[in-house]
Amino acid sequence: MSNAENGQAAANRVAVVTGAGQGIGAAVARDLVKQGYQVAVVDLTAEAAERVAGSLGEHALAVEADVSDEQPMAAARERILARFGRVDVLVNNAAIFSTLAMKPFEEIEVSEWDRVMAVNVRGVFVGCRVFSPDLRAAEHGRIINLSSGAVLLGRPGYLHYVASKSAIVGMTRSLARELGGSGVTVNAIAPGSTETEVPRATVTAADVANIIAGQAIKRRQTADDLLGAMAFLAGPDSGFVTGQTIVVDGGMSFN
Ligand SMILES: NC(=O)c1ccc[n+]([C@@H]2O[C@H](COP(=O)([O-])OP(=O)(O)OC[C@H]3O[C@@H](n4cnc5c(N)ncnc54)[C@H](O)[C@@H]3O)[C@@H](O)[C@H]2O)c1
Repeated sequence: MSNAENGQAAANRVAVVTGAGQGIGAAVARDLVKQGYQVAVVDLTAEAAERVAGSLGEHALAVEADVSDEQPMAAARERILARFGRVDVLVNNAAIFSTLAMKPFEEIEVSEWDRVMAVNVRGVFVGCRVFSPDLRAAEHGRIINLSSGAVLLGRPGYLHYVASKSAIVGMTRSLARELGGSGVTVNAIAPGSTETEVPRATVTAADVANIIAGQAIKRRQTADDLLGAMAFLAGPDSGFVTGQTIVVDGGMSFN
């Protein structure tokens, strides 16, 4: 399908991107608007959501909601439907990630473990549950979940995070089977270590050099590297692809 046809296919389609107030989610929201989608920019604070939505013009709506909490997400859905009237694509991108300190697993407090699971795992469940009537009603509903290449590598230092992103792979497969009968596809993207505008104190220059050395493609991954896979999974051409986790990591791991 050509870009122009893709643009037409996106016309009137509505995407919800959670955690779109910065980083990968913001890049995805920006690209979906560029493709012709109307986009709900969901984030924990109104300021973060508005900063991004405000830069995207009339096709974007800022929505404040905590993905781990069903009531605010149900309220978010009402706002999105009132503005755009439908939801075709749900990108479950929100996660506790860049704020996580890396530490041996014995030093992870149970409360920290629980919060990571609440956002990174329950948040995806809540998002799917809240928007499932709209996605089922859409002509080709799409769910795209963010997993991580850390699952394949078994990266040390954030066991709760790796566990949460592993859960996404299984949830993606089960949800694909539950929603396939309604024509909804459910896929995941597993990015490698991805540079965004958000500084991460735990990633040193030496870490970056090691990461690049481990990739087949010898440069730092950026959020833009994810946009092709995202556009494919959100668009009409991926209608027979479901339950998959697409690894976009410059050839760091082959699954
Ligand atoms: N950047 C990477 O190297 C990388 C690699 C693999 C996977 N990922 C995944 O990609 C996604 C985005 O990563 P990023 O680097 O942009 O992360 P980030 O930490 O920069 O951004 C996460 C966003 O989610 C929001 N968020 C956090 N908790 C929320 C909640 N309860 N409700 C609503 N919004 C919430 C934050 O406010 C923030 O805007 C995450 O799912 C992450 O796990 C990132």
